[in-house]
Amino acid sequence: MRTVDLIQRKRDGGELTPEEIEFLVEGYTNGDIPDYQMSAFLMAVYFSGMTDREVSRLTECMLQSGDTVDLSAVPGVKVDKHSTGGVGDKTSLIVAPLAAAAGVIVPMMSGRALGHTGGTLDKLESIPGFRTDLSAEEVQRQLADMGLCFIGQTDRLAPADRKLYALRDVTATVESIPLISSSIMSKKLAEGVDALVLDVKVGSGAFMKKQVDARRLAQTMVGIGRRMDKKVQALITDMSQPLGYAVGNALEVMEASQTLQNAGPADLTKLSIELAARMIYLGKKTASLDDARRAAEQALVDGSGYRKLKQVVAAQGGNPQALDKFELLPNATGMREVASPRGGYVTSIDAQDIGVASNLIGAGRDRKEDAIDPAVGIILEVKAGEKVDAGSVLCRLYYTKEDRVEEAAEMVEDAFRISAQRPDERELILEVVG
Ligand code: URA
Repeated sequence: MRTVDLIQRKRDGGELTPEEIEFLVEGYTNGDIPDYQMSAFLMAVYFSGMTDREVSRLTECMLQSGDTVDLSAVPGVKVDKHSTGGVGDKTSLIVAPLAAAAGVIVPMMSGRALGHTGGTLDKLESIPGFRTDLSAEEVQRQLADMGLCFIGQTDRLAPADRKLYALRDVTATVESIPLISSSIMSKKLAEGVDALVLDVKVGSGAFMKKQVDARRLAQTMVGIGRRMDKKVQALITDMSQPLGYAVGNALEVMEASQTLQNAGPADLTKLSIELAARMIYLGKKTASLDDARRAAEQALVDGSGYRKLKQVVAAQGGNPQALDKFELLPNATGMREVASPRGGYVTSIDAQDIGVASNLIGAGRDRKEDAIDPAVGIILEVKAGEKVDAGSVLCRLYYTKEDRVEEAAEMVEDAFRISAQRPDERELILEVVG
């Protein structure tokens, strides 16, 4: 078998056999296939797509490229949640404790910032002392003790995804339905969960810009789960503007903490309750989805979700007081306001531009090895649909270094569309798949 022939067949729209896909994944993971050939293959998949059979085999091969976690010693249904990536999307920090407070076992495996989107691990690591590199024994103990842990992808879990993901990030091949599906599902299946709730984002700040593509992505992942005997449900949710008001690592931890104390933004609270409810229902803690919604709301209102997050932060070496006393989190040293050039209604806030601007001032990475600045980011003052006056503040940029602040401020100003016409209200939760 020759790699070049497989690239050529995929380039020309042909289908690969299961053995050929195995050859490619194994060869790339063990270093026999070089980056330049795999890059060409990824680009061929980007343009030609893959059949269901190919995506299933690709996912299986990526899953089998490393260890799989055995959580059978921990009693209960294990449920995780994963977002396809957005801006200001801090729901994992909220839904995982809410579901765990309602009795679900949640081994939450999260990722780092990718492109203009943020990553849960980076957000959590802005809490002083917090560590996500738990050993297999620590994971099992913590899940048995408190029903929740936050971990990152280790070198041994779906290593093919780690390598492919890094290559996709620098070869403009992220936004591909078969590649996103196999990437997410291989690592989620490797972590030993029984069920999974997916938040498939659509809109300017998401990898899928159109609802029809988000639906296909959701259907592909639900289908992979079904073929592997896992219960998977996907919500397709709006990412045309940032979720909540805060974008940036420590800033998002603050907003998540406020939301768990029932004082968060309406959109973030609504989506968090719905995602947590789906986890509670799939975790078989309630007889109906409505009961699960009530259980999620209860965990928010009675503070048990908030206490759960503090317990887990302490267990993983972080300072739980930082969730009350925000001065204990990394703080920015400078602030720049962005004012509205005219009065009118905010018709849209381009989430991708906000994400890129936040990265410009240090909240994300340009290259894999870059360090992020946990203190910096953007706080919106208004959301789409609200009325503003000329000169009123649209948002504030928080920074620690001045060099790219002006560039970021210009980008942010362009992200806001202001018009005389009040825009139609957009639904937050657009569809359910699975
Ligand atoms: N999240 C993932 O884990 N993989 C992708 O390809 C995109 C988002």
